[in-house]
Amino acid sequence: MDDFYRENILDHYRNPRNKGHLDNPTHAHEEPNPLCGDVVRIELHVNDEDVIEEVRFGGEGCAISQASASMLTEMIQGRTLEEVKQVSKDDILEALGIDIGPVRLKCALLSLKVLKVGVYGLDDWTGEDEEDW
Ligand code: FES
Repeated sequence: MDDFYRENILDHYRNPRNKGHLDNPTHAHEEPNPLCGDVVRIELHVNDEDVIEEVRFGGEGCAISQASASMLTEMIQGRTLEEVKQVSKDDILEALGIDIGPVRLKCALLSLKVLKVGVYGLDDWTGEDEEDW
């Protein structure tokens, strides 16, 4: 089963979904992974009903960070900002599907942090291990 998830991670890494820029994002934010300096950026276009109509991500990093960002964009496209609040660390780890050690956890959760801080501000970042960031 691990092989399936590894293949899926590599697929998202090699063929990232929603990578690029939006012309007129309503939200744009980027953050570095403090351990390695790699940066992930997320841009959203949110409509008047608070629905994420379009999402793009960018940046460079390891396969885990890029694959999790790609997976996250698929999770949130078409969702409301209220629904996005519910996306958790566990959703990302479930999508990745492999054991992630403490160092790689920062890679895996970088895009989620960028998203939550970008939309709600740092005070509302509810990621676990937040004291480590
Ligand atoms: Fe830099 Fe994973 S090693 S984001």
